[in-house]
Amino acid sequence: MSTAPVILAAGKGVRMCSSLPKVLHTVAGKTLVEYAVDLGRTVGDESPLVVIGHGAEAVRKVVGDTARVVMQADQKGTGHALMQAEAVLHGNADRVLVWAADMPLLSAKTLEAVVARQLENDGPISLVTAVSDQKRGFGRLLRADDGTLQAVVEQVDANEHQLSISDLNVGVYCFDADWLWPELSKLQVSASGEYYLTDLVAAAVAQGRSVRDIVVDDPVEIIGINTRVHLAEAEAVLRERINYGWMNKGVTVLDPDNTYIASSVRIGSDTIVLPNTYLYGETRVGSSCTIGPNSVVRDSVIADGCRVECSVLEKATLEEGVDVGPFGHLREGSYLARGVHVGNFGEVKNSYLGPQVKMGHFSYVGDARVGARTNIGAGTITCNYGADKNKHRTVIGEDVFIGSDTMMVAPICIGARSRTGAGSVVTKDVPADSTAVGVPARIIKRGSAEGNQDDDD
Ligand code: UD1
Ligand code: MG
Repeated sequence: MSTAPVILAAGKGVRMCSSLPKVLHTVAGKTLVEYAVDLGRTVGDESPLVVIGHGAEAVRKVVGDTARVVMQADQKGTGHALMQAEAVLHGNADRVLVWAADMPLLSAKTLEAVVARQLENDGPISLVTAVSDQKRGFGRLLRADDGTLQAVVEQVDANEHQLSISDLNVGVYCFDADWLWPELSKLQVSASGEYYLTDLVAAAVAQGRSVRDIVVDDPVEIIGINTRVHLAEAEAVLRERINYGWMNKGVTVLDPDNTYIASSVRIGSDTIVLPNTYLYGETRVGSSCTIGPNSVVRDSVIADGCRVECSVLEKATLEEGVDVGPFGHLREGSYLARGVHVGNFGEVKNSYLGPQVKMGHFSYVGDARVGARTNIGAGTITCNYGADKNKHRTVIGEDVFIGSDTMMVAPICIGARSRTGAGSVVTKDVPADSTAVGVPARIIKRGSAEGNQDDDD
């Protein structure tokens, strides 16, 4: 006895006024279709089937292998969308659980409840309903005097009396599969040219079969996204849910209205998240860190005891006790070992900075490996982009002192314990225990007199 989850995600989402398919808009840093798929994976007996159509290739890419997909080439309504699932599911499921991909606040509890209702229903349909004066364009429920469901009338087709009904169709259904497939093919096209899935309610009633419902517990669950206003409403609800969740687990969120944490993020206890901070993607933050204010962290791993102030981190890794900012930018592939300091206006890309490296002011380190305890003076640049339009590496040893405003023209190696003079332009490798000065830099062996320099030949 299996239940197959089906997510309708093919519609245009006209009311979003967007070139992006509706289901690829994000709430709390995650796309609508991902919410639906993640939910679908927690209920049902098999991986969800997503009906895609508008912007299919982009949606397919986001879904990846987390769910199966089926195409609805022309979007002719919700009934027509579900018809596309028949080829995959016919004979493979006893029940079909259907909902729209535009409901990021829908809970597993509600889906499980509607399946449970259908299990005890002799008739072929159970659905989720809500009573609300905020009608949001939902289909209105027509009931008999004894409360039994008779039909769903879409807002565009409703008369004045029906429009005043506040008993609403949430758009979540559990169908008996054997009944569903033949009935779907009998749907008649509506005046607006669509096949309405909701017409199945009247069809079942006409056969004397019962349609049952459950009333949704939490009214926020019915926030379906049809417009940008709905998107902001859902964002506010999720933001509060996520931030309060973290506070209850021992994270200080100073200003929960102005802190933006994706549901995928993890944070350790005693960490403080300061206002106007965005933690997105697969970000992991350890305990006893201070992140923010005014920081953006995407897909980064931050170990315990780090501080990130007014900075942007993308796919960066920070070991324990790393200190970034204000105004640091750690780009993809930055790996900062224990105790590193990257200060004002420092930019790091695709580089390893060894333990205790200090890079305090206005520097760019890209495609580099920097040894432990090395000091990078103000205004240092690894000139990694060659005239050949390739990126070249800079390797700097341990305990090196890079003087202010040094340019290191890659590919280049600076040996351990060496120094560069302020303003030097280093174009050739510097051996260990040496000093490089000038433009282009000359190498002076440590301990030799100033007049005894190695000439730059
Ligand atoms: C639908 C219901 C309405 C309900 C509301 C709840 C119908 C006819 N109406 O209206 O009773 O109150 O949801 O939100 O079902 N889709 C497709 N292919 C299509 C058309 C739509 O996959 O051809 C998908 C959309 O991507 C969306 C979902 O189905 O995820 C619902 O479509 P939408 O246009 O939002 O329907 P509503 O007008 O909201
Ligand atoms: Mg809708």
